[in-house]
Amino acid sequence: MNLPEYVRLVEVGPRDGLQNEQRPISVADKVRLVDDLSACGLSCIEVGSFVSPKWVPQMAGSAEVFAAIEWRPGVTYAALTPNLKGLEAALAAGVREVAVFASASERFSQRNINCSIDESLQRFEPLMQLAHEQGLRVRGYVSCVLGCPYEGAIAKEQVAAVAKTLFAMGCYEISLGDTIGVGTPNATRRLIETVGREVPRERLAGHFHDTFGQALVNVYASLQEGVEVFDASVAGLGGCPYAKGATGNVATEDVLYLLNGLGIRTGIDLAALSTAGQRICNVLGKTNGSRVGAALGAASRAE
Ligand code: HMG
Ligand code: MG
Repeated sequence: MNLPEYVRLVEVGPRDGLQNEQRPISVADKVRLVDDLSACGLSCIEVGSFVSPKWVPQMAGSAEVFAAIEWRPGVTYAALTPNLKGLEAALAAGVREVAVFASASERFSQRNINCSIDESLQRFEPLMQLAHEQGLRVRGYVSCVLGCPYEGAIAKEQVAAVAKTLFAMGCYEISLGDTIGVGTPNATRRLIETVGREVPRERLAGHFHDTFGQALVNVYASLQEGVEVFDASVAGLGGCPYAKGATGNVATEDVLYLLNGLGIRTGIDLAALSTAGQRICNVLGKTNGSRVGAALGAASRAE
């Protein structure tokens, strides 16, 4: 079987993870998390988002976080920006890569960003233009690719159409989001096959939430389909504010353990990452959502 030699992990814990935590998190704790993560060898970190604080209060301090983190050379520090207002705030904070998000489900789009899929794509046009003028890289997310909390099954052709549009608009990579974590490996493979006809596979990323415990097998299924980029959240932090019951992304430690076992390089130090994961869990007062992180933590306490 042909698996990639190198995989890029995009750490989304500080954004996708923390955006859904109930307990308020200080700017200092967010900064510490981001700095811990970059020290582990992660080269892409989604630090926060510039969205309405009424909708997502946990992301309110993102500008302060960007101002205080250590900008390590070679690391991409990205922000989620839903509209021009968000992009302008990101630019003011010195951000050089942003992400936009559209849904493959009409009803999820209405609930999450208050407009139709088409309207959301139109909203990105001025954003893409300004990002292009400023030389920023833009990543595109598609949500609900393997199911929607309101509509149920989503046609893979619909996912492919949204992905194609985002790619044509200038997104350099399309991250396919199983927002509610319902996908299983064969569905994942079929989805990549269909989307891969519209967007080159080397430009696709997998973004699997772990609600039904399938995220890691879906990562493996995607690797078999030639996907080489995965989003993951340290300690499995997070959920989705608009998808009831959705848990966090697949834990970065768990994906890394899998990749290490497969002999796939990432440049990331698993021991350091586990320590970072446990530290943020202690700050949040929650159980570690990474099986690998918990196992390594238990082993080190037993020594
Ligand atoms: P809107 O069109 O202005 O309409 O924003 P609105 O009624 O939803 O928002 C109104 C208020 O938000 C106004 O303030 C705006 O100024 C303000 P008010 O007049 O009421 O005081 N506002 C903003 N404030 C700060 N920064 C901004 C901004 N834009 C408007 N950029 C919008 C529509 C989508 C921007 C808004 O609804 C919003 O920010 N929603 C939050 C969406 C969000 O963050 N969702 C979670 C992230 S997506 C996700 O997690 C999925 C993903 O992980 C992939 C996957 O798992 O599938 C990416
Ligand atoms: Mg997500």
